[in-house]
Amino acid sequence: MKTQYYTASSLDGFIATEDDSLEWLFPLTDLNESSYPEFIAQVGAIAMGSTTYQWILAHADEMVAETGSPWPYQQPTWVFTTRSLPALKEADIRFVKGDVKIIHQAMQRAAGSKNIWVVGGGDLAGQFYDAGLLNELIVQVGSVTLGKGKPVLPREIVQPPLSLTSVRQMGQGMVELRYDVSYN
Ligand SMILES: NC(=O)c1ccc[n+]([C@@H]2O[C@H](COP(=O)([O-])OP(=O)(O)OC[C@H]3O[C@@H](n4cnc5c(N)ncnc54)[C@H](OP(=O)(O)O)[C@@H]3O)[C@@H](O)[C@H]2O)c1
Repeated sequence: MKTQYYTASSLDGFIATEDDSLEWLFPLTDLNESSYPEFIAQVGAIAMGSTTYQWILAHADEMVAETGSPWPYQQPTWVFTTRSLPALKEADIRFVKGDVKIIHQAMQRAAGSKNIWVVGGGDLAGQFYDAGLLNELIVQVGSVTLGKGKPVLPREIVQPPLSLTSVRQMGQGMVELRYDVSYN
């Protein structure tokens, strides 16, 4: 069982624009090349921050058109927020706040032998890293630069460095990089 941060980033390290747009990302994605189906099949629990959750809520119509449901995940999901946010009746969601370490224990129990997916954003993934809980980073790096935006992982990870385990080209728009995370 691993805790994984699986995300897509621009070449200059942003997962969304400053105003949370992902319009730059969709033209780069080639569904025939995507690792997502095999990745999500091994996920047993999901964590996301409130901005990511609200992005999904704001794009409910597109979700329905693509998947038939406004909520794209089958797995139980922990949404991190200090606010009171609307729930979605189709989704298996818990709203949580505070120390990721405690919440991670509940996620582990739910995930069983499957993996935990930290969807984002970058600081939430960083909180899992800070707690020594992040095992793997999987980033699809798109062939675009944004100049500014929401950072992929706003942490200094230098010693020990991440350990690159795989590189996979996905068409001309993306390269997927996989890294193992280790701690001193
Ligand atoms: N490119 C991709 O593949 C990809 C993947 C994921 C997300 N995204 C996008 O990237 C953007 C991410 O936005 P973001 O960086 O602002 O991050 P985010 O993690 O989605 O949301 C950050 C918010 O989560 C809440 N939060 C975080 N940690 C918490 C904790 N420990 N306890 C309680 N609340 C906590 C806080 O909001 P409150 O004010 O609610 O307390 C915080 O402001 C979104 O637009 C999303 O759609 C892109």
